Amino acid sequence: MDKHLLYNSILELKEKRRAIILAHNYQREEIQEIADYTGDSLELSRIAANAQCEVIVFCGVNFMAESASILSPNKTVLLPAQDASCPMADMITIDEPRDTPLSYPGYNDPPALTYPVNFTLRDIKNRYPNVPVVAYVNTTANVKAESDICCTSANVVKVINSLPNERVICLPDKNLSDWAQKNTKKQIISWDGYCHVHDRVRLSDIESAHTKYPNAIIMAHPECRIEILEHADYVTSTSGMLRYAKESNHNEFVVVTENGILYKLKKENPNKTFYPLRKDMICPNMKKTTLPLLYEALKDMKHIVKVPHSIQIPAKKALDRMLEIK
Ligand code: 13P
Ligand code: SF4
Repeated sequence: MDKHLLYNSILELKEKRRAIILAHNYQREEIQEIADYTGDSLELSRIAANAQCEVIVFCGVNFMAESASILSPNKTVLLPAQDASCPMADMITIDEPRDTPLSYPGYNDPPALTYPVNFTLRDIKNRYPNVPVVAYVNTTANVKAESDICCTSANVVKVINSLPNERVICLPDKNLSDWAQKNTKKQIISWDGYCHVHDRVRLSDIESAHTKYPNAIIMAHPECRIEILEHADYVTSTSGMLRYAKESNHNEFVVVTENGILYKLKKENPNKTFYPLRKDMICPNMKKTTLPLLYEALKDMKHIVKVPHSIQIPAKKALDRMLEIK
């Protein structure tokens, strides 16, 4: 189908299904363009929780669609690319030990393991009884259901500080936990998961950027390693970067996150210049959603993401507790 026709057919189907299209900031340009809302994980969760529609089409990865289904259990949630997953979310399980070391195909420099490969969420909870679990939204629904509260990259420190306990378990991202530890007085017990897109950034990349673009502000996502974050000018979520770039008096920015965000950064700031830190900061799973898949999703009402009631109820508690924090 010709692109223009495809675009219009999606819009027609969207009306017919009483659907809204949500897209994460890392999605392909044409998906961000056709979406009703784009945003970071926190913004999209809030929209999913309050959406006035019958169908939510989630252009992102599966944990995001699961969160939408948890928050809006009476709506039909569709994930156009059925196999769009987040490898980091799969780095922690409740009681099935992971059977492979933490690594990602094509990413050859994984971080040192701090837990044996057969360690589970249950094990860490048993080791630290009465210590609350803060689950990054990049987790499966069952991990959320076993957690006390969720967080995103935008609110991790606020969430941790909202808890009365002096110690908290924070999972699955080791880098996000290290960042939170730097910004809270509480003691953080972290898991050893990581995002293969952000974890690959090295100090030498930052040094080269400084040399090449001496006047640029370096904006980094907290999924990068702590030594990177310590050398960045501003650390924030994807939407935090969009806000910062708009409000800042600076004109040049080095962007240290998945490169899909450059589309909106450039669109919203036509007179400013944005440089990707590395050309390979691409999340293959975020790129799986295409216009033809979005069209098929709305035409055939697929792929439905539905979280079982027994998991949805406790997982919603953890998400709602997070959403209550302003
Ligand atoms: P944000 O919530 O900052 O958009 O990040 C989500 C994510 O998957 C980062 O890799
Ligand atoms: Fe997961 Fe990283 Fe992709 Fe985000 S960028 S969805 S954390 S793999």
